[in-house]
Amino acid sequence: MQRLKIQGNQKLTGTVRISGAKNSAVALIPAALLTSDKTTLCNIPNILDIDYLEKTLNYLGAKVNRASGSMVIDASNLKNLEIPEELSSKLRASYYFMAVLLARYKQVKMHFPGGCKIGSRPIDQTLKAFKSLGATVNEENDIYTIEADKLIGSEIKLDMPSVGATINAILVAVLAEGTTIIKNAAKEPEISDLVSMLKKMGAKITGDGTEEITIYGVKELTGCNHDIIPDRIETGTYTIIGALLGNYLKIDNIVPEHIKSLTDALESMGSDLEIHDDYLIINSSKLNAISLETSGYPGFPTDLQQPFVSLLTQAKGKSTMTETIYENRFMNIPYLNKMGASIHTENKTATILGPTKLTGKEVVATDLRAGASLLIAGLVANGETIITEINHLLRGYEEIVEKLTNIGAKIEIEEI
Ligand code: EPU
Repeated sequence: MQRLKIQGNQKLTGTVRISGAKNSAVALIPAALLTSDKTTLCNIPNILDIDYLEKTLNYLGAKVNRASGSMVIDASNLKNLEIPEELSSKLRASYYFMAVLLARYKQVKMHFPGGCKIGSRPIDQTLKAFKSLGATVNEENDIYTIEADKLIGSEIKLDMPSVGATINAILVAVLAEGTTIIKNAAKEPEISDLVSMLKKMGAKITGDGTEEITIYGVKELTGCNHDIIPDRIETGTYTIIGALLGNYLKIDNIVPEHIKSLTDALESMGSDLEIHDDYLIINSSKLNAISLETSGYPGFPTDLQQPFVSLLTQAKGKSTMTETIYENRFMNIPYLNKMGASIHTENKTATILGPTKLTGKEVVATDLRAGASLLIAGLVANGETIITEINHLLRGYEEIVEKLTNIGAKIEIEEI
């Protein structure tokens, strides 16, 4: 078991280079199974989620050549169309394999996917998409058997703009006969990254980044080379750290538009921030309270909600944060309060009174972004913070200890 030890309250200076986006990579890797050609993906983050996907690719029979930051996938000969529970339970994105195997082989068997326990996270919208293209879905004891004689394009109206259902609908429709229209689609940049890769492979898709995506099915796809976009949530996490502790901290390799909701919020709170084409510079400054709520892109991302609440403990006045996407994404808050924060939650809203001094304590990373929230609190706090269950954190942030050490943080992983 590993735990993270942080000596807080150090000023941070230098450059952090942002890695490839986790939530793009986890969709683009399964997408490589849509062709029997070789696909090369670059800018792959070195995180636990990718290790799990690599294991799944191996299990299915794909040949994988992973080097630093890249992955070559050769899916010419797949031998399994079933994903065992020990692999599917590791991460939510394992259900993208459902869509690609269904699209290419017209059958797949898989357990309910895993992922952070931040809400109920049903998969009904994905199943609705599969069914509307002609697949049958049988569920017994959480095992889904999905089959189709033919997949035929149709109109899919999602009940909510789900990122995963939009991705699964695109993945299954690219090789279907005829045209599929996804209405009420999610607009997240990771979806546009997937569409850009699929277009290189020969797919015909329009409308990504809007509420209506149209996919004109093609008979086959070819291999391609694709660079994954920078991770906007990692960008946001380090930007938040910079707003609290930065001393001319440079966050490099970013797409500023992808984190506009965050930088707009920081600027209105009084943060000292300079935004350039593909980097930003940030200094710590006195911050004022703000009220925000999470929503789908381009709104304030739920994945930055927990890290941002840590920042709000240092802002002057009464802030509120309303979580509209997940029912259970406040599990960091009892630990922030243990460290000295003054946060009260009622239903979907957390009310934060600040600024409060934080003191290092032993805390638990209950999920990925809760881990990021506690890491930020630990960096700000006086004294030593110990974070346990950091496997959640390591699932999503590449070389987090190295990146923070390079800019002056006192942080280490301990084996216990
Ligand atoms: N929902 C349903 N039915 C569905 C699908 C979703 O009710 O069939 C609900 C969910 O329960 C949730 C909401 O719709 O309340 C949004 O869920 P969505 O499907 O958009 O989320 P996801 O695809 O499961 C991805 C990211 C999450 C991120 C969300 C929202 C990946 C692998 N995961 O999840 O990332 O929070 O979109 O932006 O891309 C993270 O990185 O920490 C993380 C949890």
